[in-house]
Amino acid sequence: MRTALFDHLQKLSISYYNKTPVGWIMSRLTSDTERIADLITWGLLDVTWAIVNMITAVLFMMSINWQLALGVMLVIPVLVVIAVWFQARILDEYRESRKANSKITGAFNENITGVRVVKALGREAENLREFGVLTDTMYRASFKAAWLSAMFLPAVQLVSAFALGGIIYYGGNQIDLGLMTVGGIQAFISYVTFMLWPVADMARVFASMQHAIASAERTFALMDSQPSIVDKANAVDPGTIAGDIVFNNVQFYYDDEVDKPILRDFNLTIKRGETIALVGPTGAGKSTLVNLICRFFEPRGGTLSIGGIDYTDMTQHAIQSRIGMVLQTPHLFSGTIRENLRYGKLDATDEEIEAAAKLAGAHEFITTLPKGYDEEVGEGGNLLSVGQKQLISLARAVLAKPELFIMDEATSSVDTLTEALIQKGMETLMQGRTSFIIAHRLSTIRKADRILVIENGGVSEQGSHAELLKARGHYYRLYTQQFRREREIELSPEMAAD
Ligand SMILES: Nc1ncnc2c1ncn2[C@@H]1O[C@H](COP(=O)(O)OP(=O)(O)OP(=O)(O)O)[C@@H](O)[C@H]1O
Ligand SMILES: [Mg+2]
Repeated sequence: MRTALFDHLQKLSISYYNKTPVGWIMSRLTSDTERIADLITWGLLDVTWAIVNMITAVLFMMSINWQLALGVMLVIPVLVVIAVWFQARILDEYRESRKANSKITGAFNENITGVRVVKALGREAENLREFGVLTDTMYRASFKAAWLSAMFLPAVQLVSAFALGGIIYYGGNQIDLGLMTVGGIQAFISYVTFMLWPVADMARVFASMQHAIASAERTFALMDSQPSIVDKANAVDPGTIAGDIVFNNVQFYYDDEVDKPILRDFNLTIKRGETIALVGPTGAGKSTLVNLICRFFEPRGGTLSIGGIDYTDMTQHAIQSRIGMVLQTPHLFSGTIRENLRYGKLDATDEEIEAAAKLAGAHEFITTLPKGYDEEVGEGGNLLSVGQKQLISLARAVLAKPELFIMDEATSSVDTLTEALIQKGMETLMQGRTSFIIAHRLSTIRKADRILVIENGGVSEQGSHAELLKARGHYYRLYTQQFRREREIELSPEMAAD
């Protein structure tokens, strides 16, 4: 079940992760599957044992006195009514408690991953108070559930006491009439307890079953969630995605924000092999644009075609496996640097790995590490600086030899000197490959074949560096204001020292 969930989680689209808290997912993967496993192993064993016991007892009772046996069995519907009554209430409380558990897992997760910010802002006391509210909710729900479960057993016992009383009364009369023997009654009573014992035991299993049902509902809800992007039945893998990329009247907005489109009637043609730089104000939609190209999201209207084929007619794998994407917030996996570099190309030789690292400007710092390429990076790459992580993820993308290359502020945390070094490598890499660069540094942008200024849901300006400067529009303002200092540094290194 856990393997199936893992597999399913890898298939779900990015939009799912945008709106689903990690704690919600984690509690389903861990404690909920645990409860289901408990029920299926011990619960089923107990139930089998109980049922066999009950059937045997009933058969023996029937053989002693079938009328009395039938009378005793009238008790069973009463037990069922009681069980159903308790079932509904216990289940409600367990649902509450599982919900609270999700939030608790989520709070743990957020606090652990954000521990630096928590400390820096002195939020410990406030976070503890908020966490206390969550645990209180869980405590109340669990307490009620436990109380109801505890009441269930005495209720069953009460009913069985009445049943025993009835047997003794009826059986006593039968003895007077000479229809039953004392020994027969005695045997009957032990069979009734023999039958009601498992009922009591089943009450316990029943309670844990409620727990497991609440968990199963949640786990199956996760299992049943559909990826928002699904390959069409006749989706193709064209074997390559090297070709012109054409946006045709593309509309795009994130979920539930129809009134706030990020891209509006967006039209753009990118020639095969072109290097495109995207600039524009924060929140303009630069990252959104490249996310669309990667098909992490699909256009809400219009079409996006690659090499003349509407990309929704291709498989996601065909597109994504041929794109190399480097992000501003790089993610590495625990393991060594070498393992991380090899992540996208498992059969890469050590020589290939080194060549890619050299191209990405990462080789130099890696060789200064005590264990070089075999240095552990820690979970999420935490043992390295952000700039080092960027260099490694760049090398990782380079090694995978993508047909389409995307760098979203990929070198923003790297010093200017290192960036100049990367620049050379990147030029080699981008030759003949369609590439998108989102960057704030002039040096990176200037060499692009075409610079696009993204603003208000569309391209407000485009052209080469020289053309855009001549146009005196947004890019010119950006250049003269944001880049002035950088230009000064470029022109006279002495001034930078001031
Ligand atoms: N996952 C998301 N769900 C909902 N809205 C989003 C999501 N990601 C981005 N947005 C919104 O879409 C808009 C464009 O975001 P985008 O990340 O594309 O901007 P950007 O141009 O890359 O900005 P920056 O230069 O800061 O990286 C923003 O207004 C943002 O609020
Ligand atoms: Mg962005």
